[in-house]
Amino acid sequence: MEDDDITPAPEGELALQTIAMPADANWNGDIFGGWLVSQMDLAGAVMARRVARGRVATVAIDSMSFLRPVPVGSVVSCYSKLGDVGRTSMQILVEVWIGDHTNHQSKVTEGQFTFVAIDQTGRTRPVPRD
Ligand SMILES: CC(C)(COP(=O)(O)OP(=O)(O)OC[C@H]1O[C@@H](n2cnc3c(N)ncnc32)[C@H](O)[C@@H]1OP(=O)(O)O)[C@@H](O)C(=O)NCCC(=O)NCCS
Repeated sequence: MEDDDITPAPEGELALQTIAMPADANWNGDIFGGWLVSQMDLAGAVMARRVARGRVATVAIDSMSFLRPVPVGSVVSCYSKLGDVGRTSMQILVEVWIGDHTNHQSKVTEGQFTFVAIDQTGRTRPVPRD
């Protein structure tokens, strides 16, 4: 198969979907990177909470790449994929994709987050193994 025949597709599961609003735009008229990071943090937390079966906290954003600008009005879809799981931590890869009016999807941002399972007092706790 030729490389051109491969249609890129999101990795992971759809964790969060929203619409980029004018209030989230920057001085260029595109969406603020900080708004995107916030959505990605939420999308990662959706998965981390399920894996940890309870409270989690973001301890690190290990990498972040802004690949393309996001126009106002875009449907923004965040996909989460579980990476390495440590004793109390979970790495989660989050990809952000937008679709155009022809339903063509393109990846606009990707980042790797580390979440830690915490108890009610904010102390770390082991991630359940089963
Ligand atoms: C999350 C928190 C409870 C962890 O406490 P801590 O004393 O750093 O805990 P530890 O040093 O035992 O580390 C816990 C785990 O996180 C990992 N970790 C800690 N700092 C890390 C970093 N900068 N990058 C990647 N992993 C990290 C450790 O390797 C460890 O993983 P493991 O148990 O799977 O081996 C504490 O740092 C905290 O409360 N941070 C603030 C969280 C927050 O407010 N986030 C924003 C809003 S959710």
